[in-house]
Amino acid sequence: MPDSSNITSDMIPASIEPQVKNQLRDQFGRTISYLRLSVTDRCDLRCTYCMAEQMTFLPKKEVLSLEELLTVSQAFITRGVRRIRLTGGEPLVRKNILWLIEKLGAEIASGGLDEVTLTTNGTQLPHMAKDIYAAGVRRINVSLDTLDAELFSEITRRNKLETVLEGIMAAKAAGLKVKLNTVAMRHKNEDELPALLTWAIENDLDITFIETMPLGDISEARENTYLPLTAVLPKLEAKHKIIPSTARTGGPARYFTVDDSASKLGLITPLTNNFCDGCNRVRVTCTGRIYMCLGQDDHIDLRAALRSGEPSTNLSGCLDKAMGLKPRGHDFAMSNGKMVGTVSRHMSQTGG
Ligand code: 5AD
Ligand code: SF4
Repeated sequence: MPDSSNITSDMIPASIEPQVKNQLRDQFGRTISYLRLSVTDRCDLRCTYCMAEQMTFLPKKEVLSLEELLTVSQAFITRGVRRIRLTGGEPLVRKNILWLIEKLGAEIASGGLDEVTLTTNGTQLPHMAKDIYAAGVRRINVSLDTLDAELFSEITRRNKLETVLEGIMAAKAAGLKVKLNTVAMRHKNEDELPALLTWAIENDLDITFIETMPLGDISEARENTYLPLTAVLPKLEAKHKIIPSTARTGGPARYFTVDDSASKLGLITPLTNNFCDGCNRVRVTCTGRIYMCLGQDDHIDLRAALRSGEPSTNLSGCLDKAMGLKPRGHDFAMSNGKMVGTVSRHMSQTGG
């Protein structure tokens, strides 16, 4: 039996009792209690699966101000969203982002939110981890695809492995629970995945392996590095005792316990195993578009409502409209060796 003491608040079932009367619920009856908010499309890395080397970022004037991002968050909180994850691009390169984190942290203190989390590449953590914890964040996800400096430079096109490792340790020292996100790539980190799992266990970190998703144009064909996690699991099992956990989060990952350790292993398998049935989330871009699904193009622009005379009423109306548009799921798949269900937005636009 998996040890239930390992089950963190990430594993609260999607169907927690709504705490507000006008709880957001989509056309399929799924309760929407989780917002992923992208605060910038910029990033100080250029991961090959995420971006092209030459990226055109949004002009600053198109990006919502921090105050507007807070107003959007509050509109979701009023409608029963209990958890907010800040993403990017890289959320910690947004100027004054701590202001927003602190404001959202105050919502936890006043009972408006259960949790504020971050998905980060880790480069800013050496100097920001303490303040992030002080603002009320308790858990973060850090992207880490390899422990090899050369391969790190190849994958991210920047030479920052040491800074990221320092950032992970600073986060732990500050009291943050860290989960690593690792995109599994054929011919790149494929052989290193068991060692990454071992490293995560040794350092008391959770780790989730992710299949590459066809989001946005990158420099090469995604099929070249696509690695189905069905092929990875046996290699992990050869080195570790891996037991499926029954816990689900309303998120895409399936979880496992490993070697009776405190570390959880997660697998996100958009291509080999669709997970959309229990989806509890929506995403908002830094320009104020709400996307109901990472893998679909339907969206609603919140900006007019946000800049109207009555933002809270008008935003609430937009959220109702969005609920009617949330699709059943994404269409990512492999078909005859080709990735299909592609969308044109990069992950850095919609937020991971
Ligand atoms: N497919 C899968 N994962 C991706 N990420 C970024 N782009 C992609 C993609 N196309 C990962 C990042 C980060 C997380 C938010 O998503 O590595 O860890
Ligand atoms: Fe930056 Fe994350 Fe994209 Fe890498 S995956 S380039 S860290 S936004």
